[in-house]
Amino acid sequence: VDTIAYLRRFLTDSSSGVDVPAAILLETVQAEGGVNVARADWLRQLAALCHELGIVLIVDDIQVGNGRTGCFFSFEEAGIVPDLVVLSKAIGGGLPMSLLLIKPELDQWDPAEHNGTFRGNNLAFVAATTILQTYWQDDTLCHEVKAKEQVLAGGLGRIAAEWEGVATAVRGRGFIYGLELAPAGLAKKVSQHAFREGLIIETAGSRNQVVKCLPPLTLDSATLQQGLEIIQHSLRTALNS
Ligand SMILES: Cc1ncc(COP(=O)(O)O)c(C=O)c1O
Repeated sequence: VDTIAYLRRFLTDSSSGVDVPAAILLETVQAEGGVNVARADWLRQLAALCHELGIVLIVDDIQVGNGRTGCFFSFEEAGIVPDLVVLSKAIGGGLPMSLLLIKPELDQWDPAEHNGTFRGNNLAFVAATTILQTYWQDDTLCHEVKAKEQVLAGGLGRIAAEWEGVATAVRGRGFIYGLELAPAGLAKKVSQHAFREGLIIETAGSRNQVVKCLPPLTLDSATLQQGLEIIQHSLRTALNS
C-alpha cells in the first residue's frame, strides 16, 4: 500500500471528511511502537507533501536522535529538514533535559517566555555541552555506530534464522534493533531471563512482541557480543520453560 498516496488523497479531496492538519508528528523509527523503520523515500515523500500543503513537519527524535541511528539526527540520511525537532533522553547524557528545535520563522516565543520550575537544569546543560563537544566534533561516533550495527543486526539475524517461525522479523537502524517473536508473551519471558543474566532489555510493539535492543552508543564489541549471547540463551531458556 502506498500510504503517502492514500494520505494525499484524503487531504486533497474536499469531500474526504479529513481536514488538512496543522502538523504531522512522527518518529522516523517508531521505538515503543515495535521498532518500525520508515523508509528514506517515504520520509522524503511525506516531507514534500507537508511542504506542498503547508503542514508543519515535526520529527520526534527523542529516542532515535543523538546518534542512535548513526547520524546525529535520524532524518539526516533521508535528506529532509523538519520544521520542528523534539530532542530529549541522550541529549542530556543521562540527566533530565529536553529541547525543541524550531525553524526561526515559526517560532512564536519571545526569549525566556517558555519558563517554569524545571526548565534549564544547569547540570544537564553542562553535561549536554560536554557530550556534544566530546562526541560530535567529527564523524567518528557515527561511523562506529554504523560498524557496530552490522554486528548487532548480524547477531540478531543469526538468532532469527535459528528460530525460524518463532522469530518473525529483525529490523532497525543504527543501534536500535528489534527482534520480533510471534508467540504471545515470549518477548517478555526473554526480557525476564535476560535480566537474570545481567542484561536489561525491554519489549516494544502493540502486543509487546518485540525484544528491543537499545545499547549504549559507546558499547565495546566484546560486551555487545556478550549481550547477543545472553539474548540467544534467554530465548532458548524461555522456549524450553
Ligand atoms: C519517541 C518518544 N517521544 C516522546 C517520549 C516522551 O518523552 P518525555 O518523557 O520527555 O515527555 C518518549 C519517552 O519514552 C519517547 O520515546
